[in-house]
Amino acid sequence: MASGLRKGLTSYGDAGFSLFLRKAFIKAAGYSDDALDRPIIGITDTASDFNPCHGNAPQLIEAVRRGVMLAGGLPMNFPTISIHESFAHPTSMYLRNLMAMDTEEMVRAQPMDAVVLLGGCDKTLPAQIMGAASAGIPAIVLPVGPMVVGHHRGEVLGACTDCRRMWGQHRAGKIDEAEIEIISGRLAPSVGTCMVMGTASTMACMIEAMGLSLPMSAAIPAPHAERLRCGEASGKAAVAMATRHGPAPRSLITAASLRNAMVVLQAIGGSTNGLVHLAAIAGRVGIKLDLAAFDQIGREVPVLVDLKPSGDHYMEHLHHAGGVPRLLQELAPFLDLDAPTVIGGTLRDYADAAEDVPGQTVIRSRNAPLKSTGGMAVLHGNLAPGGAVIKHAAATAGLLQHTGRAVVFDSVEDMTNRIDDPELDVAAEDVLVLLNAGPKGAPGMPEAGYLPIPRKLAQAGVKDMVRISDARMSGTAFGTIVLHITPESAVGGPLGLVRTGDMIKLDVEGRRIDLLVDAAELALRTPIEARKAPKRGYAKLFHDTVTQADQGCDFDFLIGEAEEEEA
Ligand code: FES
Repeated sequence: MASGLRKGLTSYGDAGFSLFLRKAFIKAAGYSDDALDRPIIGITDTASDFNPCHGNAPQLIEAVRRGVMLAGGLPMNFPTISIHESFAHPTSMYLRNLMAMDTEEMVRAQPMDAVVLLGGCDKTLPAQIMGAASAGIPAIVLPVGPMVVGHHRGEVLGACTDCRRMWGQHRAGKIDEAEIEIISGRLAPSVGTCMVMGTASTMACMIEAMGLSLPMSAAIPAPHAERLRCGEASGKAAVAMATRHGPAPRSLITAASLRNAMVVLQAIGGSTNGLVHLAAIAGRVGIKLDLAAFDQIGREVPVLVDLKPSGDHYMEHLHHAGGVPRLLQELAPFLDLDAPTVIGGTLRDYADAAEDVPGQTVIRSRNAPLKSTGGMAVLHGNLAPGGAVIKHAAATAGLLQHTGRAVVFDSVEDMTNRIDDPELDVAAEDVLVLLNAGPKGAPGMPEAGYLPIPRKLAQAGVKDMVRISDARMSGTAFGTIVLHITPESAVGGPLGLVRTGDMIKLDVEGRRIDLLVDAAELALRTPIEARKAPKRGYAKLFHDTVTQADQGCDFDFLIGEAEEEEA
């Protein structure tokens, strides 16, 4: 098998000439023959002025390069797309598959024996793993790490659970313009990813539990020196993977490791987005994520990690409490600890090496969990024949069994225009319904599922209402919110038949979400009109090929096939 500079030669019809030309050009950058004979380790450079979450990427790349060279390899960083949550229009999810394609093709096109996937902001790690899984070369993930916490008037603050909480108080008139400006400078006090258990932290924890990154790599704060040492160690590990020719991502993304990830997702009270991304990652290796199994895991596995938005703490506290390895130790009865890892051993090695931190309360024991069942439930019913999800760990207990009158918004724009209208006919016990916000509908399934409480109700003290949609929501958000309703309204899902005044019943215990309208009446209704299909470019590709939430919203032509069982 060709390796190093000889891999994937550019096609000129003469392999010898192709290698000669490649060497001639790379020598222009000052490389020696000795350097060029080493195993080549690619490093994805996802630094971008538009991505403050990746603000430490330059320092981390230096650390990885040092590790690669200490281990006798040649580091080669290369740029890929970088996506930040609040700098991506219309939504970062719309671009995730583009980043996955970019990563896959650049990893495949350029000669590297292993790759370090440096990422972190919500969509980046899933995109990179999807791409690397399809490209098939050994890959190790290095998250950029979470921010440290902020402080305001004696209170600990963090992006972005507290962004929403503070904004909610501003909307309700409790925080004035001057103070909300001050708060905006304190919510994200360092580089790194959101430090609550949002999507970035959720992905980093699941990825570590899948053995795709080094132990402790999920929770070390971004500005800490230890994060740089983790980078150096990841560089060294990548050289070892290149030398051993494995493991490839496909050997690590297995039914067992996906199940381990689902256990961790429930136990950390993780982001609902994590489920969509996990389905997409599974799809790349030909595995259909089992949502029924995920729901069952949620009935058995308690929430053990006390982090916002389900609990009280932040990622740096998880790190100081022993990080993911300590959690794996606590979850051992639910996990397959024989699952392999990037460093060649098993997940048991990660758990066995966990630090026991006396007196820590962030990672609870199974006997004293934060919540006795997992963080999420999968719902079905006549509104969601293909499933829906609710993060009940971050919901209001009294709303988990609820019947209310639907107040329908036809689109994100309609919701934006009317939600604060003083004339809006809405009461606290109503169910807010958002249509046309799914993968094709919006497009890109924006994080609009966290419909704001109508201003007049917020000002009257209402903090939560049942809200349902085919959208996603930020993992940092709190509320009784049913998401990812499948099929979405824009492709004819029954959600598109809901009208204001209909009654909707949410029964989380029974795992159901139902529209209480006769089938005969529904048959007479016209589904909500979907937006016009785009005619060109990435928008057309996205619209024509994006799958529904239960398949991870990957493009249908990127889904992989399962490996043939050895006879
Ligand atoms: Fe980047 Fe939250 S905005 S992780």
